[in-house]
Amino acid sequence: MAVKPIHLKKLLVVLVLICMGMVALLYWGSLEEIYRVKPRAARWSAWTWDCENEQCVRRVREQGELYIPLSTCRMQCGPLPLWPMPLHISDVKRQSVGFGQVRVEILAEGKHVPEMLKEAAQVFKQNLRALLPEGTTARLGELVVVVKVALPTYLLSLNTDESYTLNLTYLRAEITAKTFFGARHGLETLSQLVWWNDVSLRVFQRAYIKDRPQFRYRGVLLDTARNFIPVPSLLRTLDALAASKLNVFHWHISDSQSFPFDSPRVPQMARYGAYSLDKIYSADDIRHVVSYARVRGVRVLIEIDAPAHAGNGWQWGERHGMGNLSVCVNKQPWNSYCGEPPCGQLNPDNPHMYQVLGKLYQDLVELTNMTDMFHLGGDEVDLNCWASALEDKRDPMAKWKYFQRKALMKLTAANKGKAPDAVVLWHSPFTRPENLNKKIHVVQTWGASNWGEEQTLLDKNIRIIISNLNYWYLDCGFGNWRGLGNGACGPMSSWQNVYQHRPWVKFDRSLILGGEVCLWGEMMDENSLDMKLWPRAAAFAERIWSDTDTEQSIRDAHGRLAVHRDLLVSRGIRPDTMWPEWCSQNPYMCLDEFTSTLK
Ligand SMILES: *[C@@H]1O[C@H](CO)[C@@H](O)[C@H](O)[C@H]1NC(C)=O
Ligand SMILES: *[C@@H]1O[C@H](CO)[C@@H](O)[C@H](O)[C@H]1NC(C)=O
Ligand SMILES: *[C@@H]1O[C@H](CO)[C@@H](O)[C@H](O)[C@H]1NC(C)=O
Repeated sequence: MAVKPIHLKKLLVVLVLICMGMVALLYWGSLEEIYRVKPRAARWSAWTWDCENEQCVRRVREQGELYIPLSTCRMQCGPLPLWPMPLHISDVKRQSVGFGQVRVEILAEGKHVPEMLKEAAQVFKQNLRALLPEGTTARLGELVVVVKVALPTYLLSLNTDESYTLNLTYLRAEITAKTFFGARHGLETLSQLVWWNDVSLRVFQRAYIKDRPQFRYRGVLLDTARNFIPVPSLLRTLDALAASKLNVFHWHISDSQSFPFDSPRVPQMARYGAYSLDKIYSADDIRHVVSYARVRGVRVLIEIDAPAHAGNGWQWGERHGMGNLSVCVNKQPWNSYCGEPPCGQLNPDNPHMYQVLGKLYQDLVELTNMTDMFHLGGDEVDLNCWASALEDKRDPMAKWKYFQRKALMKLTAANKGKAPDAVVLWHSPFTRPENLNKKIHVVQTWGASNWGEEQTLLDKNIRIIISNLNYWYLDCGFGNWRGLGNGACGPMSSWQNVYQHRPWVKFDRSLILGGEVCLWGEMMDENSLDMKLWPRAAAFAERIWSDTDTEQSIRDAHGRLAVHRDLLVSRGIRPDTMWPEWCSQNPYMCLDEFTSTLK
């Protein structure tokens, strides 16, 4: 049968109208309309999610009834699933708009910032793509993101303004920030307003967010000396720091066990100190980690611990006519000379040792481009080691002070003659206020929160970074690697304990630069890294960024953190499991407090 041209025209018009209708539906349509065109899950699932009393409730779906996926329900119902929670949110319209393309316009000047923003935009796009199930594409609609940055600042320092505003109105988002670092946080927040609803990427219709962190130092310590962690795992960890708006990767790169840093100026260190040839960090590796981190709003603070926690890697001095650079290396019985095997401590009486240290500092300053902050270590000096090994057995406290003075001189020289604004030392019996210069020194306190280390320092106007071991040491509570029974510290701090710790409530906050969670590496390598770090480091991230503390916010944290955990998974992290998935699908039904109020 031949089709008359007049019918063809009508058919075409109808087809065009249908197509336009579908486009409009996907673009602007309500969820109900969208799910009429949605295939599989909508046909298959016996359930749908309703929003009742600000929480998603799962309910059996009647024949032919529309399907709302949980991903959509939890974006549109109850507390906003952002992590860390921004400071101010207003004008939110949680109905959604679909899109498939993203265009980022960059308005910034300076030598490095436009380039860094381009890279940050790539990361942003990649993060959205990661929400799509494999093999799917989302094509319809375009989200336009305009990023405006005022200053050419391209290195993160303690004074960097990390604030941003995000103004989202119908597929146009404007992110305004003083610095690149604020803008990148804005992109991160925007990515958390986007989800995949089984059909397309969706984003809220409107949101206005003004945000800034409560603390400027928000760190994660990884130890790559007890066990080596390959670079890809470090990069993956940086992705997760960025997702959580943490801004310092404190890299404890060497210890008495191994020295994996292949220093360009002192190649002997890694040759003697690395576990093997493939367990080293070359200068290129470090440059790569540093620039990867910078684009993600993170600075890399590399610590070569000294004078203690320094043994393997330092044993080449005598062979090279420089005497013993370190003493007590691998000495037994270890518990007479150090806190954990193997022992090793720099030789404070050997002038060659300071030369080597100075060269290492030069390398680090160059590789990290860090001029305002440096970590000198200083952890757990064992006086018995020095007393047993050194000829000159005079006042050990004087030796510690001498070492610190010389190390600081070497650091200042490496830093083109200027002492950094913040030279961090681990807290110890030696870091008494009278031994410190409050203009330069910052003490990282790590004792339990009831040891009172912080008050003594704050009283004398010494700046601190807090890492209380009973809450923020993430390696505690996993047993004893040296024998039977419990490990050196415990119990394990759950994410709730990490989250609820607010050490600053007792103190004047002005001298608290921030905090850091520490994952020491005796029982951790790339295989257990993610699970030990996440989601607990993310719990810490919200504490240190937002520090919200209403009962409501702590209750809400369960659900919001579960969403953030899913986001980390979408970006390739393998975090620990928080609870049965049933609890994510039935918000608050697993919480003790909630259940008891139901009775
Ligand atoms: C947000 O953007 C919209 C559209 O560009 C604009 O009309 C509105 O004034 C902006 N809001 C603020 C607070 O800047
Ligand atoms: C270096 O240390 C070894 C012991 O480890 C010792 O036998 C030797 O005498 C020391 N050398 C110097 C110059 O002190
Ligand atoms: C870091 O410093 C090196 C020189 O030490 C320089 O070549 C490089 O451009 C710097 N990178 C940045 C991002 O400042």
